[in-house]
Amino acid sequence: MKKSLKLSAFVLLAVSLTACTEAAVKNTSLAEVNKKELPPVHEDYSSNWWKDQPNGNADTNTDWNGEGWILSSNEVSNGVAIADIKTGNVVKYIQSSGTPHHIHLNKKQTWAFATQRYGTSVLAINMETLESHNIDFPGFENAPAPQHMTMSRDGKYAFTSLNGVGAVGMIDANNAELIKVFKDVGKKPRDLNVTPDGKKLFVSLQAEPFITVIDIETGEMRKLERTTTDYGKGTGSGLDMSNDGKYVAVSNTADNEVALYDAKSEKLLKKFGDIPKPVNVSFMGNTHILATGNRNDGSISIMDADKLKFIHTIKTGPGTNIPYLGPDGYWYTSQNGAGYLTVMDPEDNFKIVRKIWGVQNIHWLSWSPDGSMVFGSNWGDKTLTKIDLTKKKDFRTTIPVGLNPNGIAIKTNVPKELLVKYQQEQNAEEATRIKKASTLIFPKARDVNEEAFLGTCLQCHDIGRIMRNNSKGAEAWTSVVDRMKGNGAKMNDEQRQQIIDYLASDQHKSLSIQTELEAELSKEKQDKNNK
Ligand code: HEC
Repeated sequence: MKKSLKLSAFVLLAVSLTACTEAAVKNTSLAEVNKKELPPVHEDYSSNWWKDQPNGNADTNTDWNGEGWILSSNEVSNGVAIADIKTGNVVKYIQSSGTPHHIHLNKKQTWAFATQRYGTSVLAINMETLESHNIDFPGFENAPAPQHMTMSRDGKYAFTSLNGVGAVGMIDANNAELIKVFKDVGKKPRDLNVTPDGKKLFVSLQAEPFITVIDIETGEMRKLERTTTDYGKGTGSGLDMSNDGKYVAVSNTADNEVALYDAKSEKLLKKFGDIPKPVNVSFMGNTHILATGNRNDGSISIMDADKLKFIHTIKTGPGTNIPYLGPDGYWYTSQNGAGYLTVMDPEDNFKIVRKIWGVQNIHWLSWSPDGSMVFGSNWGDKTLTKIDLTKKKDFRTTIPVGLNPNGIAIKTNVPKELLVKYQQEQNAEEATRIKKASTLIFPKARDVNEEAFLGTCLQCHDIGRIMRNNSKGAEAWTSVVDRMKGNGAKMNDEQRQQIIDYLASDQHKSLSIQTELEAELSKEKQDKNNK
């Protein structure tokens, strides 16, 4: 009996082999083995395209064909890269300045805006011509330092926190022009969110014990208390609004707290305590479930805003940046300090169901409109990673973009002829620019302390962050260096001490580090001036 079954199976196989070529059979079967079914897009999923972070794309087309461009703002290269999603080919590399931090597309995807967190302007890129210009914020002595950006739900306006000058800039998102500046919002504005009706703007302030609400039309402002602790050093952090505009939450990092407000009445509803140094905070998709990224601690904390109830703190891995609700219904956390991103199942008590390895200090995640791909910025590297969620293996590809990409954005409506143009051949000149923008010219270390510093401290972010930090003396720097250990910086005890000594002596203030491209461009400029 057994024998005859085997025999008929063999006959069947032989028949099918004569029908197709052997190679074709092999290919289809391999492809099928590698295929993973995607669930339909989860009912609570939202790309949050208007938000300052985390956000994705305004396109909700679930039949998206997988083609388009991806943009990234590269902090250490000081530039923005645009690449083809399918081939990874570079479309254009734009050298800017001032540490491009986050990048957003407007609702129609006709303009991209990059905040330049230590600079003076927002870089605006016309997505049809690929020409760019700076949007400046006049009237300030110091650099405005635009940090984060959010949009009004109708897509008309972009708002950016001018972290250096305590102001918020309002930009026409369809014409890429400054409309007005709201001054005196408080020290070091960071996150911002507009109510769905476009009337009120909530702003978190790193260096104030309150958050600010701005009536956009009149410019009238109100301060809502968040803490009684002195936040003068800039220890306050993130803010988010639920997608229906009901709640606003802010991280009181130094107090290990999250404060929750009713957005309409502007009343403080509750402070959740025992949250280990929360930084970013986010409502998960369209729900009222709130989650923080606790970087020092490598965890997330989860709260239910409707029930005013704390749910859980869960360790996800070093330098947890922010949790996302993916279109598949799983929660994802980006890990600033690890080589993986973490996937959790909220239906199964937030059990970690997967760790996706092969990424480097992954920072920003963004899903394609159909949920089939997730893109991440490898903040500790010079690439983006594209993860194909429909595959079981060989699901990862990298796209070279420049050093330390942070924010990313996807343009899904690129005209076919433009797409094809960049897919057919690699643009050699732009590819060379990316290579040069990905190579730092390191000065020779002047001593062992500097060697330890150069080898450890520039892996995840630019030296600008360190230069602009106001810490003075060994004690203050010890706390920064130890915090970086929590973020995932690798050093032994000896190196730790060398780095502290180095920073405490202010030796780093005389360092100058550029990419090959920056050095080349500044030489060209000099030669031109000398002529
Ligand atoms: C594994 C990634 C990583 C490495 C390596 C790293 N950092 Fe950081 N660094 C971060 C992250 C994430 C932030 C932002 C969050 C924060 O401030 O903790 C940051 C921010 C900073 C800031 C800005 C803080 C502020 O508010 O002004 C300073 C200063 C800094 N790092 C110094 C250092 C020094 C010094 C080293 C070397 C010991 C270092 N970093 C190595 C991840 C890293």
